Amino acid sequence: MKRFVTFEGIDGSGKSTISKRVYKKLGEMGYDVVLTFEPTDTSLGRVVKKCIEENSDPIVTTFAFIADRMQHVKELKRWLERGKIVLCDRYADSTYAYQAVQLENIVENPIRWLKDLHDEFILKPDLTFLCVLDVDKALDRIKNRGKLFSFERKDFLKKVQRNYLYLASLEKERFVLLDTSRSIDETVKECLDKILKR
Ligand code: TMP
Repeated sequence: MKRFVTFEGIDGSGKSTISKRVYKKLGEMGYDVVLTFEPTDTSLGRVVKKCIEENSDPIVTTFAFIADRMQHVKELKRWLERGKIVLCDRYADSTYAYQAVQLENIVENPIRWLKDLHDEFILKPDLTFLCVLDVDKALDRIKNRGKLFSFERKDFLKKVQRNYLYLASLEKERFVLLDTSRSIDETVKECLDKILKR
């Protein structure tokens, strides 16, 4: 069984809806499960959200995301030590996929640079679901959400999705690609099967 499970994907790809449904189903099946997310709902998480809203310098934004994560990891470890299944809506792969786009033309190999910064200090997920959806469809899904983040633009999200697919190609064992243009029930069932598989 997979204990530390992350959900990734571009904005509007369905990962929050799917992670919430998977969380509910596992709870109903009697599993001790936690659903958490990044950016977190803490003072550091609020700094991160301000960085996004104010379109801060990409290096500043990167360090804010990493600081938020380093704090979050302590909590993730506590939950895992208590035997819980931990579902996390966005984690380090979000930084590798999103900040790598922001850092294009600023550092030479953004994904490598971002990994070198904090990969060794964090927990590695047992399983990562990557929600894959056409960028136009994803933007269509979020167009009624009100004010969009600066990241929620077609050209930016196309690059983010390309980065995600690249990351998945590097770690085929950890990543499961989910086609989220399907019905949500089908996707949730696939997630449960993969999490509970021995
Ligand atoms: P959310 O919409 O899933 O709450 O995430 C807020 C935004 O933050 C979303 O556009 C993705 C972005 N993000 C990053 O750029 N890097 C990260 O490391 C994380 C966790 C989120």
